[in-house]
Amino acid sequence: MRRKDEIQRTDGNLGVLLPGMGGAVSTTFLAGVEAIRRGFSLPIGSLTQMGTVRLGKRFEYRIPRLREFVPLAPLDDLVFGGWDVFPDNCYDAALQAGVLNREHLDAVRAFLEELRPWPAVFDQAFVKNLAGPNVKPEASHLELVEAIKTDIDAFRHDHTLSRCVMIWCGSTEAYLEPSEVHTSLSNFEAGLKDSDPNISPSMIYAYAALTSGVPYVNGAPNLTVDIPAMVELADQCKVPIAGKDLKTGQTMMKTILAPGLKARMLGLSGWYSTNILGNRDGMVLDDKDSFKTKEESKLSVLETILQPQLYSDLYGDFYHKVVISYYPPRGDNKEGWDCIDIFGWLGYPMQIKLDFLCRDSILAAPLVLDLVLFMDLAQRAAMTGIQEWLSFYFKTPQCAAELYPEHDLFIQLMKLKNTLRYLMGEDQITHLGLDYYYAI
Ligand SMILES: NC(=O)c1ccc[n+]([C@@H]2O[C@H](COP(=O)([O-])OP(=O)(O)OC[C@H]3O[C@@H](n4cnc5c(N)ncnc54)[C@H](O)[C@@H]3O)[C@@H](O)[C@H]2O)c1
Repeated sequence: MRRKDEIQRTDGNLGVLLPGMGGAVSTTFLAGVEAIRRGFSLPIGSLTQMGTVRLGKRFEYRIPRLREFVPLAPLDDLVFGGWDVFPDNCYDAALQAGVLNREHLDAVRAFLEELRPWPAVFDQAFVKNLAGPNVKPEASHLELVEAIKTDIDAFRHDHTLSRCVMIWCGSTEAYLEPSEVHTSLSNFEAGLKDSDPNISPSMIYAYAALTSGVPYVNGAPNLTVDIPAMVELADQCKVPIAGKDLKTGQTMMKTILAPGLKARMLGLSGWYSTNILGNRDGMVLDDKDSFKTKEESKLSVLETILQPQLYSDLYGDFYHKVVISYYPPRGDNKEGWDCIDIFGWLGYPMQIKLDFLCRDSILAAPLVLDLVLFMDLAQRAAMTGIQEWLSFYFKTPQCAAELYPEHDLFIQLMKLKNTLRYLMGEDQITHLGLDYYYAI
């Protein structure tokens, strides 16, 4: 790992590669970055653009903006490319996604119209409720890997890019159990040669990215890089990987609320979460196999935060249910309801009702921006393999096999900022603070 003065400079343009470029998250991200670059809007929701980091002692009042503290690529250096199963340019795709209104989209129309997705690697076995014409004709896995690598090379060449990051914003793939082909790189590469059906399209993109020296982020709950084969490949290629499933909406609220309840030692008897959403993501998740992938990602959060094995009296027996219902009238404006049954002193029951009328892609877009910039930083700092310090952004943070993931949003934020302090040679902030009062 490189520190401060050894971190490579941000010279040159940074390519952002988006599988799922025509989707709601991608187009909201793209339109937003351009609007911000043109000064039409503030980068609200983006830690890299709006966040600060405290350095040193509290009486020093050293609190720079994150983007002034660490060397991140400027937004003007970002160049975009990507793939989708629909050929529409990003303006038409954004209109179709229905997240941003026409007034906002028209302000960046020319920019969005220039962005046309390349043909995708797609297999309907992994996304049943979707079919589109913009699909690569190659048949074998190895040919498809080569086709994606050719796209990456051409993109690099055409825009004279110095670096790239790939972030999966494509649909959630059907649930895939880790199997033999995922257990090691040699098995995986043999599987590629045999076009093994347990290798999903997202894995083909990821393999092409890593072997091209491009960091890979998984914005969906797919298995993709969360398998030993890809961890091995990332280490071998000296490229960072991170995932999985962007932490927005209901799960973000869960990881804010649950640590609070636990901090106060309040018990939990049940947490019922239901979502209604009507975007294309909702349509894909209406298929039980895609939903199972999402469900796994959403369910693990409470168990890990509440640690029932340590606090059996409080959390040994709670019931956790997550439901997603496709309801077209709402479009991207999701409604997440939580009915939370808790108990306090002498076991007296209480209830919390949370009704979050959120906009999924509005919450997700700034996370995509931050992840692109931080993964590029990680690459320039020679931080290879799993980037657990980016857990802050994910529902199911990827971590080393022997660890359990950290879900608490506030611990995740501290971990992220301490990683940046470490990289830049600043003291860690432990929040001890006794030295303000005593000689220690
Ligand atoms: N919106 C959020 O807040 C949020 C949060 C966490 C995770 N996610 C995940 O992010 C992903 C994108 O969400 P969205 O709301 O933009 O969905 P979306 O359906 O609007 O967009 C997904 C896009 O991916 C394309 N696609 C599907 N398979 C592809 C492939 N193999 N190659 C290239 N393109 C492909 C689809 O055609 C579509 O345009 C989903 O997996 C979703 O579960 C979204």
